[in-house]
Amino acid sequence: MNSLPLEGHSILFVGGKGGVGKSTMAASLAVHLADSGEQILLVSTDPAHSLGDLFGTSVGDRKREIIPGLHALEIDPGQEVERYLARVKSAMRHYVQPVMYSEIERQIELTRHSPGSEEAALMDRVTSLMEEGVTSHDRIIFDTAPTGHTLRLLALPEIMAAWTTGLLKSRDRSASLGKAVDRLQGREKASGDELAWFDDVKEEATDERTQKIQEVLLERQRRFSRARRLLLDPETTAFILVLIPEKLPILESEKTLKVLKQHKVPVAGMVVNRTLPNNQALGEFLESRRSQEAEYLQQIEKAFPKLPRVQIPLLSRDVQGIDALREVAQHLLIDR
Ligand SMILES: Nc1ncnc2c1ncn2[C@@H]1O[C@H](COP(=O)(O)OP(=O)(O)OP(=O)(O)O)[C@@H](O)[C@H]1O
Ligand SMILES: [Mg+2]
Repeated sequence: MNSLPLEGHSILFVGGKGGVGKSTMAASLAVHLADSGEQILLVSTDPAHSLGDLFGTSVGDRKREIIPGLHALEIDPGQEVERYLARVKSAMRHYVQPVMYSEIERQIELTRHSPGSEEAALMDRVTSLMEEGVTSHDRIIFDTAPTGHTLRLLALPEIMAAWTTGLLKSRDRSASLGKAVDRLQGREKASGDELAWFDDVKEEATDERTQKIQEVLLERQRRFSRARRLLLDPETTAFILVLIPEKLPILESEKTLKVLKQHKVPVAGMVVNRTLPNNQALGEFLESRRSQEAEYLQQIEKAFPKLPRVQIPLLSRDVQGIDALREVAQHLLIDR
């Protein structure tokens, strides 16, 4: 098999071990598809961005046209957390009494550096971009961070959906959230016949707030469920695994493939990058590497027999700039 079957797939994830050529492949796919007349959105989810270096121009957090038909952006997780917290703060203002603002803000501030907050904020942006990307562009291509990080990210919609479902199911818990807020405000002390009317008003207010909190959770849950549906749809999503013919990347790819299968993420194919060029005499040293490479290529063939696969030769220089990306794309052999 020597082509990547990407017909009709509107969401592509390019993943693999650190340094194997993910960004290079994502960018060269993007350039090639844009050259073929498609509208492409290329998104880097790796905090250590490199699209700017690849294209030789700065790529920021907002969509930027790189060549006709190709827009790119690099998600900045730190900035996403700030935006996310600002959104949460402003939403909370609608649901709690003004006297509670400073306490709530303090609590929200505490989450800024808590584990997982960057991933949650990143996932929020990725899910919105997935939805936006499939309508505004022909395809959206994600250049991802090294494997571990990306696998956690792909599992997040499921975890987040389950989490919000848990919160939603427990109406009691939401109601007691309202009560806890009241207690903190010292209003639970209000009792006695003369204050009965106040309790009624309080109940109503709590109900309204509870309902609003539930609406927000519900909307979030719907968005994560939609993202999950897109992610798991083999007609829509294609994960492309990049590796180089060496021991550790092969082992890591096997593990990755297993996890992707467990999560039912559709994998379209593999790019075996940086193979030694076979039409040139390489000298004794590199010929010895070539024979080792042949063994690893056989191992890849055995480990991933059913997966479509393309090979990209090692170029004489690092891949930089649109022309070099076009050169790489000639080897990508995409069925589209
Ligand atoms: N086929 C190739 N021939 C020559 N150089 C290559 C080839 N593929 C990638 N490179 C070079 O290898 C380096 C790493 O590539 P790249 O940045 O695409 O890897 P990555 O998997 O995205 O890395 P990271 O895990 O750090 O994000 C870059 O300098 C790139 O130019
Ligand atoms: Mg990269």
